[in-house]
Amino acid sequence: MSRRFSEVLHARRSFLKGAAAGSVLSALPGCAITSTGTNPVIGFVPIAVSREDALRVPSEYVASVLFRWGDPVGVPGAMPEFRMDASNSAADQALQAGMHHDGMHFYPLPFGSGGSAHGLLAMNHEYADVKLMHTDEQKTWSAEKVAKSQATVGVSVIEVKLEAGRWQVVRPSKYARRITAQTPCRVAGPAAGHALLRTAADPEGRTVLGTFGGCAHGWTPWGTYLTCEENFPFMFVDRGTVPPERRRFGFSAAGRSYRWHEYDQRFDAAAQPNEANRFGWVVEIDPYDATWVPVKRTALGRMKHEGAACSVGPDGRLAFYMGDDQAFEYVYKFVTARPWNPRERSANRDLLDEGTLYAARFNADGSGDWLPLTGSNPGEAAVKARFLADARGATKMDRPEWIVPHPVTREVYCACTNNAARGHGTNEGPNASNRRENNVMGHILRWREAGGDPAATAFQWDVFVEAGDPAQPEAHKKGNVRGDIFGSPDGLWFDSMGTLWVQTDMSGSLMHKGDHVNFGNNQMLAVDPATGVFRRFLTGPTGCEITGFHTTPDNRSAFVNIQHPGEGWKAGPREVSNWPDYDPNGRPRSATVVIRRKDGGIIGT
Ligand code: FEO
Ligand code: CA
Ligand code: CA
Repeated sequence: MSRRFSEVLHARRSFLKGAAAGSVLSALPGCAITSTGTNPVIGFVPIAVSREDALRVPSEYVASVLFRWGDPVGVPGAMPEFRMDASNSAADQALQAGMHHDGMHFYPLPFGSGGSAHGLLAMNHEYADVKLMHTDEQKTWSAEKVAKSQATVGVSVIEVKLEAGRWQVVRPSKYARRITAQTPCRVAGPAAGHALLRTAADPEGRTVLGTFGGCAHGWTPWGTYLTCEENFPFMFVDRGTVPPERRRFGFSAAGRSYRWHEYDQRFDAAAQPNEANRFGWVVEIDPYDATWVPVKRTALGRMKHEGAACSVGPDGRLAFYMGDDQAFEYVYKFVTARPWNPRERSANRDLLDEGTLYAARFNADGSGDWLPLTGSNPGEAAVKARFLADARGATKMDRPEWIVPHPVTREVYCACTNNAARGHGTNEGPNASNRRENNVMGHILRWREAGGDPAATAFQWDVFVEAGDPAQPEAHKKGNVRGDIFGSPDGLWFDSMGTLWVQTDMSGSLMHKGDHVNFGNNQMLAVDPATGVFRRFLTGPTGCEITGFHTTPDNRSAFVNIQHPGEGWKAGPREVSNWPDYDPNGRPRSATVVIRRKDGGIIGT
């Protein structure tokens, strides 16, 4: 450990010790949580907003592109290179990085080593740009094109190594793997085998082909990865009268542009109504075993899962915090019935199949309650978790996205990205935890569980920050950000030193104009929860969102995902962005970027 690192760590630990003891982050009546103190750690010079088609970080850092859409994952003997004209086949794509990189986690190699120079990256490929991936866009349509589209979504596992100061993807690798919309997944937990999950192709209701829509991610202390199925309805069409349950999820007769149903009848929801019930789950994957069958963990409920953030309780039971990212949907947590076993990895294999699912009620006085979503038919209760949350009186939120617990205090932070529909027409108006009508800017909530126990059924909460721009004339768009401004917080991550990283996802249609004119491209900021001062660390290329962030255990390398650069193009693939290749005949590509300090120091300090 270098002197600098030990000093920094000591300063940080002193703060955290106070926090854990309640001396700093104490609960006060009326204002649930108050943080005070100075910021001894965050030390970089913040950067300006940017509208450039480039990725920017502070001058003392280097950002290198590591893993782009179409790069081979490294399956031995099968490593097709990306073709700039997007002419790769479906078979090629199934061996290459998918599109739209999102949640991501670093797993040290060897397992359990805690090392920071060699490991695995598991990441989501959230959705597909069905025009960008084909040379002729959608002028023709075929089974091959659907197969390619289905191979661009899901998950990648890659092996990565730091050599001579540079991170490389190790190819070939026995760990390298793609999971797509066609990969068999086992169903476990209360909905496994339930009538609502049975289809003609799977009369047992226990094996689903594929996972997709994986947005933020989750993790377990035994080193597995959780991909969380969010906007799965986009891949379906739902002709005729859409039943209320599917209408609430956003199923529609027109569908989006996927057209999977034309060659794969599973995605015709009216014809295969139960297929829709087989998505919207948290899916566990073992990145250390490329032959492991992914498992849909239905005990964690079915919703538009954003992520599943794990917090380990004092008795070893685990809580997984989950946002259901849709306007007026809920915040959930799942608490395992049993403690996890740190000594025997295999003893945790079925831990996520038994426990209690809760939805959150944020009371106006700063208290909160976790409302158990139990029903007489546990399988049906899991499939219809949203309706149980309605009946229990959970609080309707402004699109809860990533949720992260502080690594030491276990205080939980939740990004509510925005909800322009709040208070519109017959929609519900503001409430204490979502207090702005027409909330176009978003906010970050936080809460502390009773007794500091993630398994508790009561908590104290407050609003950490309301995003916005003080230059806006309307009061509800100004926000109360201290430091560098931003809108639409989405990705959140605590590094092990307790710095909160915040990533933004303003939609392409909002960027650079109107209320969002001063924010530039999407960005990433760092904030010490004790000071609440935001500092802009990274700005992305045009049209992208910033998402997926994980630092190595030594905090000297940070992996970040740049999703959908160039979004919104119409006239041609390079119209909005040509990042990261800038190839005159290429196209924008989502990518994992690795960030290091030029002097090899701690990220963010
Ligand atoms: Fe995929 Fe909720 O963002
Ligand atoms: Ca997100
Ligand atoms: Ca988002």
